[in-house]
Amino acid sequence: MMELIAESLWYILPAYMSNMAPVLMGGGSPVDLGKRWMDGRRVLGDHKTWRGFASGMALGTLTGILQGDPIRGFLLSAGAMCGDLLGSFIKRRLGLPPGRDAPVLDHLDFVVVAMLFDLFHEHMSPGILISVLMMTPLLYELTNRIAKLLGLKR
Ligand code: CTP
Ligand code: MG
Repeated sequence: MMELIAESLWYILPAYMSNMAPVLMGGGSPVDLGKRWMDGRRVLGDHKTWRGFASGMALGTLTGILQGDPIRGFLLSAGAMCGDLLGSFIKRRLGLPPGRDAPVLDHLDFVVVAMLFDLFHEHMSPGILISVLMMTPLLYELTNRIAKLLGLKR
């Protein structure tokens, strides 16, 4: 059990690092360039920035390099950053403003797409898949609360 948890955390670490980087290093021009979707709302919103995307790619890939698996690091980072954008796209379509909490979507968007991207490269065991899906919402809530206490997130 402990071994599976440790193995899962090690496996998904690049995606976590990727998702955390933009909170510290994001800002500047938005990925959607201020454009609106057909519903008149922003495509992604001001909280999704190019600098945030790039910092997530960089930190997640660096994590993978340090772990000795740069390809996994790159795929998990790219997936995490794209999943995060997809989550924001869905939130905007539901009429939720940037920064509003969306349970399940906020918790899992980045890891689901990260693992999907990594499937092109390797097949993770079902045990790892399930434990990542179970642990991530808990860890997300924990780190999100710490980030809010530290004033890093509103
Ligand atoms: N961030 C960024 N660029 C990204 C992703 C995130 O600059 N591509 C930064 C933004 O400052 C954002 C913070 O990281 O406010 C936290 O990201 P997240 O929780 O994913 O965004 P939300 O503020 O919840 O916005 P949304 O409602 O669009 O998910
Ligand atoms: Mg999000």
